[in-house]
Amino acid sequence: MGSATISGMGRLASVDAPNDAEPQNFDLVVIGGGPGGYGAALYGASAGLDVALVEFDKVGGTCLHRGCIPAKELLETAAVVRTVKHAGEFGVVVEPKSINWDTTLARKQAVIDKLAGGVVGLLKNRKVTIFNGTGTLGAERTVQIHGVDGDSTTVTGDAVILASGSIPRVIPGFEPDGRTVVTSDEFFHIPHIPRRAVVIGGGAIGCEFASTLADLGADVTILEALPKILPGCDDDVTRSVLQSFKKKGIDVRSGVAVTGHSGPGTGKDGTGTVVSFGDDETIETDLVVVSVGRVPYTDGLLGDGTAVVVGERGHIQVDEYCRTGEPSVWAVGDSIATPQLAHVAFAEAIMAIKDLLGEHPAAIDYSKVPWAIYCHPEVAFAGHSEASAKEAGFEVAVSKHRFAGNSRAMILGETDGLVKIIAERRPDGTGGRLLGVHMVGPWVTEQLSGGYLAVNWEATVDEVAEFLQPHPSLTELFGESVLALTGRSLHG
Ligand code: NAI
Repeated sequence: MGSATISGMGRLASVDAPNDAEPQNFDLVVIGGGPGGYGAALYGASAGLDVALVEFDKVGGTCLHRGCIPAKELLETAAVVRTVKHAGEFGVVVEPKSINWDTTLARKQAVIDKLAGGVVGLLKNRKVTIFNGTGTLGAERTVQIHGVDGDSTTVTGDAVILASGSIPRVIPGFEPDGRTVVTSDEFFHIPHIPRRAVVIGGGAIGCEFASTLADLGADVTILEALPKILPGCDDDVTRSVLQSFKKKGIDVRSGVAVTGHSGPGTGKDGTGTVVSFGDDETIETDLVVVSVGRVPYTDGLLGDGTAVVVGERGHIQVDEYCRTGEPSVWAVGDSIATPQLAHVAFAEAIMAIKDLLGEHPAAIDYSKVPWAIYCHPEVAFAGHSEASAKEAGFEVAVSKHRFAGNSRAMILGETDGLVKIIAERRPDGTGGRLLGVHMVGPWVTEQLSGGYLAVNWEATVDEVAEFLQPHPSLTELFGESVLALTGRSLHG
């Protein structure tokens, strides 16, 4: 169904115990070395556990090698291109710009390699034993490891954490070839910047890739099946992103189904492909990026004799503490049906370790986790949107302030976007408890933490309005938006 890239396997620890030897026992065996898995291994080891980590590819997982990190790294190249483009407005005269794509890719890889080396170093410092192979859980928390070089061994764990992650969902007929059709697995290695790109799916990944490609100079079209892009975002935020994308020249076509494409090399000049969508519409393009969600990856993870259950949609079934049906076996990260975010995987890993240590952790409230989408303009939010708060039955008070009036945003030359606060409405019309904070604009992924804390602390508007924001700063807009909900304001 999906496509897993399993490249560049580095041998990290030998899988060389003889088959008939007594299996080595660990306090904890973790299967999968992405944020969920290495997070569990690091946090568990820091709590004094003797930990084994089993990974068949590179430690760091999707996030580090094929996801968050390379995506943000390329978005930074796009930001540099924008800075150069607008340098003249600041009186800085630069040569006509050109992009050396090989240098761009090399920088991205250097950042990945440094971070990956850092994670492996941390694991080694904490004496985590890393097995380079595929781990299969059997009865009694026995994990059979098939090494990448053909060896195999068996280990046991007093506890086991499953963190096998996810892979891109692929639409039939759009199987990736790495050149004309790519998913996020291949996108970070495309040989050159395409002249034209079609992005199928306007979710977080689609919008980040569309934004990157448009800033790098490609003509970009997003084809989204639902009536609007960025599912889950507040409507005002989506509108703002759409306006900014339009300025960049991104053509967003929503409510259209994709039906197929003619095949690589079938475009007018013998290159590219022609994508069919909607009511007999077509578009010719050099690159098709398929970003229509990710599916859990559990191939080879479960052997006989475990009570771990995989549901119809491929997710490992867990309770609110990430416990599977098998005693002392937890599952975290993208392989379970919770938000597919690296920081959620970290939180689940910590919760699972605390649970196995008998520390009675609080269950994660998934409705209030922070979301951060790094397209330009960036999007960040936590808690209810205006629509979802109303659907949940709240009477709401809403405050919106635009970056267009913010001094720091003007200085930066980044005035698109807004901050929107949703609070419970008091009888006098002022705001009570904060329900949601939604932001779109410059560096909002770095500005969300105050709002995220306030929503999760169930703070009231009056409480938060007492805190100062530095002047001049982008976060003043958050302060101003909260202040306005008290019934009085400074600037707006
Ligand atoms: P997504 O589920 O967020 O968005 C996929 C989009 O594709 C949806 O809007 C869906 O309606 C659309 N779609 C599905 N089938 C389609 C079709 N045949 N034609 C046209 N449109 C179609 O999935 P996405 O963007 O691939 O991301 C995967 C996961 O990774 C998500 O859970 C996302 O939240 C997470 N992620 C988060 C990031 C962030 O927060 N910065 C960055 C990257 C990924």
